[in-house]
Amino acid sequence: LKKEKNAIILAHNYQTPEIYHGIADFAADSLALAVEAAKTKADIIVMCGVHFMAETAKLMSPQKKVLLPDMNAGCSLSSSITGEDVRLLKKKYPNVPVVSYVNTSADVKAETDVCCTSANAVKVVESLGVKKVIFLPDDYLAKYVASKTKVEIIPWKGTCIVHEQFTAKEIKEIKKQNPGIVVIAHPECPPDVINASDFAGSTSGMSDYVKKNQPKKVMMVTECSMSDNVQVENPKVEFIKPCNLCPYMKKITLPKILDCLENESNEIIIPTNLLEKAKLSVERMTAIGR
Ligand code: 13P
Ligand code: SF4
Repeated sequence: LKKEKNAIILAHNYQTPEIYHGIADFAADSLALAVEAAKTKADIIVMCGVHFMAETAKLMSPQKKVLLPDMNAGCSLSSSITGEDVRLLKKKYPNVPVVSYVNTSADVKAETDVCCTSANAVKVVESLGVKKVIFLPDDYLAKYVASKTKVEIIPWKGTCIVHEQFTAKEIKEIKKQNPGIVVIAHPECPPDVINASDFAGSTSGMSDYVKKNQPKKVMMVTECSMSDNVQVENPKVEFIKPCNLCPYMKKITLPKILDCLENESNEIIIPTNLLEKAKLSVERMTAIGR
């Protein structure tokens, strides 16, 4: 069906193994998915991920049909802020540029100067050459960026419902029970969890870390499918797996993917004037790169 329709399946690293290893043409973190969506020669993109990822793909490739197997695959960060909230913040802090995490709606991206992901947040903030930025919507990612730069960060109170659940106590306990274990965390985790970990990076950053360093034992402080997917590619590494499921990512299933490709249903539509405004902030991000 993919061949017949010249369709490509893009999958986020949090998709289940049967999607990630079984049917995806390209699986990666949110930055690489946005870049791939711009590059592909396919006519149809099926995004196995959440709504903001499908919207971002549409912004990068407006002429293509972008399908999302379940329109209810949201994100707690994305739903924590609206375009109107950003307009009010801009009034409160005039002339302060807005950097938004890619985990936002097209409405928010349209009010944004430049987007970022966890893979390039510090680089994007510093690329602006200013003393102060508004950084939306993840409060923990904002704190992580603030710890790595001298630029003053004005945050928003959004959190990821998956990563906010991890605690430093849990990490310390796991380290005690597993001497020598390497703990790697996503920057959406609370600061004390990141401090208790050995490395922090985007989902692809975490996966590359394991590939390169081949630790004997590792814990990935993130969504559960990460360890399942990365384990297949690193058979010598032992994965210790306390993890949290993202209920939004898990809405995507093989039958829903087949259905949406067969019927070309669940198409992402963004009004042209909104699309033209919103795509600029994503294009600026991909130009900065990783
Ligand atoms: P990455 O950009 O690291 O893939 O993260 C996206 C995400 O939603 C993590 O919760
Ligand atoms: Fe959003 Fe968190 Fe799920 Fe990622 S893991 S899609 S940030 S709710």
